[in-house]
Amino acid sequence: MAFVRDLWYAAGWTQDVKRELLPRTIIGDHIVLYRTEAGEAIALSDTCPHRFAPMHLGKLNGDTIECGYHGLRFDRGGACVYNPHGNGATPRASHLRRYPLIEKNGLVWLWMGEEAAADPAGIPDFPWLDDETYAFTGSHTIPMALPCDLIVDNLLDLSHAAYLHPGTLGPQQGTKDVTSVRKEGTRIFSDRLIPGAPPAFVFTATGAATPDETVDYWANMRWDPPGSFYMDAGIVTAGGQKEDGRILSSVQIVIPATETSSYYHWKMFRNFAIDSAEVTAGIEAAVMQAFTTEDEPMIAAVHQRMAGREFWSMKPLLLSSDSAAVQARRVMADLLKPRHENESMEAQPIVAVAG
Ligand code: FES
Ligand SMILES: [Fe+2]
Repeated sequence: MAFVRDLWYAAGWTQDVKRELLPRTIIGDHIVLYRTEAGEAIALSDTCPHRFAPMHLGKLNGDTIECGYHGLRFDRGGACVYNPHGNGATPRASHLRRYPLIEKNGLVWLWMGEEAAADPAGIPDFPWLDDETYAFTGSHTIPMALPCDLIVDNLLDLSHAAYLHPGTLGPQQGTKDVTSVRKEGTRIFSDRLIPGAPPAFVFTATGAATPDETVDYWANMRWDPPGSFYMDAGIVTAGGQKEDGRILSSVQIVIPATETSSYYHWKMFRNFAIDSAEVTAGIEAAVMQAFTTEDEPMIAAVHQRMAGREFWSMKPLLLSSDSAAVQARRVMADLLKPRHENESMEAQPIVAVAG
């Protein structure tokens, strides 16, 4: 599988990058992150050019990073600035690649393409993460032994929630939904409304709704490549206005580590029970249960059953609920093409669906 290099990838949360060496693998590149004494976040290649030791097994020496094998030191720009061997000369060729890095909305973004093409305007915005009127869960990162595209499929088709998450996040099975999908450039929106349904467990368990209440449930997904999601979600008493609703929204960002492994960064926020640590803990427990004991094993089983075969070669049956996920696959395929072939992106038809 090829990866799109000309993209910003969320390496993690701002607070994960500290005065210690944090290894991350992104689209196959081994990277080490740390913070300088002045607080600047740095991302360098995690492979020493001498004998290829992982740099994160070394240590920080001021703002330089010292290889744990034979002691070469590199500065925050990746240049070798200290050689304890021979005459101490630092060969020009011995440097670590430095990745352009930007911190925005509490996330650390790395540009994986050529440095000259790095445009911060391409970073998806998540202003809700800076809005202190919400109550937040923790900032989580779950490593998953799953390919990124299958996790993106899962998140772009929330019709699975009623079947895979009946006791946690999902609405009742058989409830009718209205879903509309639209595309703006490389961004895809999938808006879903389930009118007049019982509230999901996560709402009743946290006191946001009573089990006998009838609610309208909205879940509007915004996707940016390769796997950055803003999910605007919540419930309102049936027939009410969304503005009066109980919001339980989230930022969920999936990035490929390798072809078969990913990082899943997630954080939820709400506008009810703002001061309740108990409600925060209840939401975290329900979400973790859903992601790691419901989604993850199912996607792993799908991955195993596909046995390395390419998605389209298996001729998947397409349902109406697949529209957003199929369009996202098309966006990724287009981004992988050489630039001059991308001009017809807007002209592509929406996927033909059955069912
Ligand atoms: S492997 Fe890093 S200094 Fe030798
Ligand atoms: Fe799920």
